Amino acid sequence: MAETGKQKGKFITFEGPEGGGKTTQAQRLIDRLQERGLEVLYTREPGGTPTGEAIRDILQHHVTGEEISPATEVLLFAASRAQLVNHVIRPALDRGAWVVCDRFADSTTAYQGYGRGFDIDQMIAINSFAIAGATPDLTLLLDVDLDEGFRRITERHRRKASPLDRIEQEHRSFHERVRQGYLDLAAKWPERFRIFNGMEAEDTIAAAIWECVTRECGA
Ligand code: TMP
Repeated sequence: MAETGKQKGKFITFEGPEGGGKTTQAQRLIDRLQERGLEVLYTREPGGTPTGEAIRDILQHHVTGEEISPATEVLLFAASRAQLVNHVIRPALDRGAWVVCDRFADSTTAYQGYGRGFDIDQMIAINSFAIAGATPDLTLLLDVDLDEGFRRITERHRRKASPLDRIEQEHRSFHERVRQGYLDLAAKWPERFRIFNGMEAEDTIAAAIWECVTRECGA
């Protein structure tokens, strides 16, 4: 991935396998940053722009009724990301805001690279093209045991009366490769990644993340 150019804001991404608590922890971090009077922008992938949300529907819910080929899947995630970087993330960083993003480029390397089996370096190159230098300052990886992660997302879908989405429905072995892939990426880029145990209590993780963000990014 290309290195970030000098930017005024801070860019933090949450990553990890399904059901690790990314969205909850992102919200808790944002609350604390805002208590400090900082401008914080929350966004998510795929999505975060009208174009990106339309792509999210295609990717998650079979809205076209057509089977999505694996290569198309990679490029749709990348297209959503390019739009998000250009229209939302880059302008926010340039004006000095903090950007907290729920999944970003590492998701493509983990899911489409490690999960689907595409060449890892090729995924990194496609990401690099899509993000055009907007590399996160810090990536918080919420690692979680597969059974616990799926117990949580199944419960969430039950509450919302929604089905598991297209990628959540993938085989267990796919999700195991994704989890391991994230750990590999964290080992490859130790200066950017910090790993948190998603099995711990929500408050414990939130406190550890806050300590990490204040230390690494000077909130
Ligand atoms: P979520 O953010 O609500 O968990 O849903 C996003 C889903 O899309 C999740 O299953 C992970 C998957 N995904 C990829 O496969 N590749 C990507 O690049 C991104 C951003 C998400």
